Amino acid sequence: MADQPALPRNVFPFDVPLTELRRRRSAKWTSFAEDVLPLPVAEMDVRLAPPIAAALQTALDDSDTGYPADPGALIAAFSGFAQRRWNWRIDADDMRVCTDVAVGVIEVLRRIAAPGEAVVITPPVYPRFYAWLKELGLTAAEVPLRELELGGRIDLEGIAAAFASGARVLLLCNPHNPTGRVHEARELRELAEIAARHGAIVLSDEIHGPLTHQGATFSPYLTLSEESRGTGFALTSASKAWNIPGLKCALVVAETAHHERILRRLPHERAWGVGHFGVLASTAAFAAGEEWLDCVIAALESNVAFLREELARRIPPIHMADPRAGYLAWLDCSSLNLDAEPAHIFLTRGRVGLARGRHFGPPGLNYVRLNFGCSREVLHEAISRMSQALKQ
Ligand SMILES: Cc1ncc(COP(=O)(O)O)c(C=O)c1O
Repeated sequence: MADQPALPRNVFPFDVPLTELRRRRSAKWTSFAEDVLPLPVAEMDVRLAPPIAAALQTALDDSDTGYPADPGALIAAFSGFAQRRWNWRIDADDMRVCTDVAVGVIEVLRRIAAPGEAVVITPPVYPRFYAWLKELGLTAAEVPLRELELGGRIDLEGIAAAFASGARVLLLCNPHNPTGRVHEARELRELAEIAARHGAIVLSDEIHGPLTHQGATFSPYLTLSEESRGTGFALTSASKAWNIPGLKCALVVAETAHHERILRRLPHERAWGVGHFGVLASTAAFAAGEEWLDCVIAALESNVAFLREELARRIPPIHMADPRAGYLAWLDCSSLNLDAEPAHIFLTRGRVGLARGRHFGPPGLNYVRLNFGCSREVLHEAISRMSQALKQ
């Protein structure tokens, strides 16, 4: 990877013109009418990281579009990344590839929870968590986050009570979507002790982990203690951080003999559902994409500051907790006292597409989620349209 093209200096990664973005045929750019600024779908407005573009270009030049090969290089690349970034040493035998995080979660859940069982989730949370449980005939035991205005802490007592009443699995979002909170090591350690005491399993969805902002510390669940290793599975992917979700590739990690046996029971057949381009791109991302990633993280942090200023200037009643990872802002619109759902008003009157808070569970009713993985111009325009919408 040493001869991969480097990222040009002084490039703001979100400086992609809107006319170019509108040519994209991905979900984000095709789900709304042309006059809507689309900020709900979790894709970033970046061009590919140079090492990923080079790996995919080579594959295209060679018409190398077959099935995915042995994932050894990907597993080695993620091991190196996890060790450099988080001091997490992972044995190659403890990892499996899967199509995406959704498939990884569903396939592990299928093996550890029987239909009808309750699985703990912590709303407001990524809406597809509800969909995945429904697909498997599982019910959601909702333990809402606490102190949502500060980003939302997991409610350890609530989770302990849910385990005590029979739930055996927690689907954790670490860092949390939609609030961008990076759960603290101390909290996760305590969570692991609670899970161990109740014989429960924690599925830690760590897809946003690589996008942790500077100054926050992401703790991979499996690194924290004997109890976390004994109770946990981790799901991760390069798809959010390097914006390659359409290429289909993720990893499941488990570090005990018992959990590895569960991984071994994942159908071999599933390996054929992984994208060959996903493996090539994720390998390049983890092995040679850190310089680009750091540049994106710096731009995201400056977008948070910009968004905060714009909101304070144009729509002061909207409250935003501080996202410390990723590119999603969870906006509390309750002080606006609107007579309809906030996302509906911003879409119909302002032509700004935002994710609807209620889809994230009951605590999300008066919220919208805004994707700030975009240019300053788009952010500025979105907030000014939202502000105008409120004056109509
Ligand atoms: C917390 C979380 N998990 C999973 C996903 C989906 O991941 P994948 O496309 O790998 O299934 C997302 C996408 O936004 C997410 O935010």
